Amino acid sequence: MATLTKAGSFELGNLTVKRLGYGAMQLAGPGVFGPPKDRAEAIAVLREAVESGVDHIDTSDFYGPHVTNQIIREALHPYADDLVIVTKVGAVRGDDGSWNPAFSKEALIRAVHDNLTNLGLDALDVVNLRAMFDVHGPVEGDLEEPLTVLAELQQQGLVKHIGLSNVTARQVADGRKITEIVCVQNQYNLAHRSDDALIEELATEGTAYVPFFPLGGFSPLQSSTLSDVAGRLDLTPMQVALAWLLKRSPNILLIPGTSSRIHLRQNLAVADVDLPADAMAELDGIGSAG
Ligand SMILES: NC(=O)c1ccc[n+]([C@@H]2O[C@H](COP(=O)([O-])OP(=O)(O)OC[C@H]3O[C@@H](n4cnc5c(N)ncnc54)[C@H](OP(=O)(O)O)[C@@H]3O)[C@@H](O)[C@H]2O)c1
Repeated sequence: MATLTKAGSFELGNLTVKRLGYGAMQLAGPGVFGPPKDRAEAIAVLREAVESGVDHIDTSDFYGPHVTNQIIREALHPYADDLVIVTKVGAVRGDDGSWNPAFSKEALIRAVHDNLTNLGLDALDVVNLRAMFDVHGPVEGDLEEPLTVLAELQQQGLVKHIGLSNVTARQVADGRKITEIVCVQNQYNLAHRSDDALIEELATEGTAYVPFFPLGGFSPLQSSTLSDVAGRLDLTPMQVALAWLLKRSPNILLIPGTSSRIHLRQNLAVADVDLPADAMAELDGIGSAG
């Protein structure tokens, strides 16, 4: 079994998590909509993740919608004391599966309560406000109103910590004037490196950076360099992609998503991998900032 502690840990506010966690988005049906094809396997993946030492699960009530949180509750409730469940608000799903902004005060309050109900919690460990000015990537826009609503819910004790997702460096800086931002969750991987500078900045400040789509998401990473390095090190390309992220910066926390126990085992085994400097340099050549 992988020894996850080898990859180190990091603080999310006053909560400590191992750097290798798990993203639950793949547990809903195709297109992150409706029930999964294999609910029993989804439950088995979650239970094995926690039994293997995972103490950081990323989710949202808009996965399914509701489905992923309900599966997490069925699989893991009552939760281990050290399990940190990070969720996100700011979107709702249309009947056609579309992802739509939901930033009104009422929508945010409803989203927090839906997460509490479906996860079976009295308070949420970390809630990321997911910016939706452009669903596909960060663009500037004012987050003061929705963040203030979340900060009020935090004061009421319903939310322990707040993070931001799909945001720019300026939105992080502005957000900090309203409340403590414990993590930033943006798209980032070997091939998609727009956030290189932001990662350095957050590392200096001791803030976690949690890349979504660490394996490429809906378009899995493909690169001959990645395959060559993986072949040489007797790892899979996906393992190398995760090991590169672990070594890229100490404030990076991994939440690779999978609906399969076999892939889960491969992903968690990366805790034992320390990529050599020449492999890092070669892999660095794959992506470019911007
Ligand atoms: N804040 C946001 O806007 C946002 C957006 C997207 C995602 N997220 C979060 O980030 C997490 C990670 O992103 P993601 O799940 O979308 O994408 P990802 O982790 O980059 O990739 C998931 C894909 O890779 C496959 N996979 C996983 N492990 C593998 C392995 N060892 N070998 C081969 N294929 C493997 C999965 O298929 P199998 O199921 O077959 O393994 C799935 O198709 C999500 O689960 C979610 O919690 C957040």
